Amino acid sequence: MTDTRDPAPTALDKVRDHYRATGLTERLRTALLAFGPEDQRLGPERLAPLDQFHTRGLAATADLARMTEISSSDRVLDVGSGVGGPARFLAATYGCEVVGVDLSEPFTEAARYLTERTGQAEKVRFETGDALALPFENAGFDAVFLQHVAMNIADRAGLYAEIQRVLKPGGRFATFDILRAAGEPHYPVPWARTPETSCLLTERETRDAIEAAGFRMRVWHDDTDTAKAWFAQAFAAGPPPAPNLGVVMGPEFPGLTGNLARSLHEGRVRVLAAVFDKP
Ligand SMILES: C[S@@+](CC[C@H](N)C(=O)[O-])C[C@H]1O[C@@H](n2cnc3c(N)ncnc32)[C@H](O)[C@@H]1O
Repeated sequence: MTDTRDPAPTALDKVRDHYRATGLTERLRTALLAFGPEDQRLGPERLAPLDQFHTRGLAATADLARMTEISSSDRVLDVGSGVGGPARFLAATYGCEVVGVDLSEPFTEAARYLTERTGQAEKVRFETGDALALPFENAGFDAVFLQHVAMNIADRAGLYAEIQRVLKPGGRFATFDILRAAGEPHYPVPWARTPETSCLLTERETRDAIEAAGFRMRVWHDDTDTAKAWFAQAFAAGPPPAPNLGVVMGPEFPGLTGNLARSLHEGRVRVLAAVFDKP
């Protein structure tokens, strides 16, 4: 007899499900009417409350870009590019070409839509794909960004080896990540509803895994205190103006962010910004 049951979902299916965002582009189209009519070009910075999907938002991307010394001649890959805010920021600020790749098809579609709205489609493009099997040739990029993505990926050796493969010799790898410190975070958090899809490493494990892939450390910056201060200020200021990341992740998103802030405050997790060289 044939087994007609659906196969059990893989870890990748579960991560994809977390970022499923049904009808996202349409929801964005409606939400952005708050900024003016559909045919009006938007400055990329206006989208920051909804398109920078990581701790400290736009400021964290700007800091990481400075640490990485991005320049106009760089060809940059943003792995796990979300709805594309970091990629648009890099292109707008430095004039570089940026390619984003993300597991979530709705995120990729939304990233393309937002990039049309900011008029950056010539410099910034997006593809759907898995960070563990990047759909790019060897040695095609000067810099790779990875912001708040590794925490969904258990196979860190595979992840960092793929990033190494697509970088040119002399290229830079910039990562902004949540690390395990003491115990588990309070779930659900912005990247995972349960521990099943959360793959945090400690500081030591993270550095060892990146160096084992052949990278040499250039910058290692513990961003925990800055992140804590940012959350404290954000909560004191009250709900962020709409439209914000709630459009992307749904109405319960503030609760997930609150759990991350509490986990940080209790020392369960830390925040790392780091840059590595490919020799
Ligand atoms: C918290 S969001 C960060 C998005 C973006 N880096 C940013 O900072 O705005 C995590 C992103 O990682 C993507 N992601 C998770 N696992 C992935 C994988 N194996 N390959 C590619 N993207 C992945 C998710 O789809 C999601 O867009």
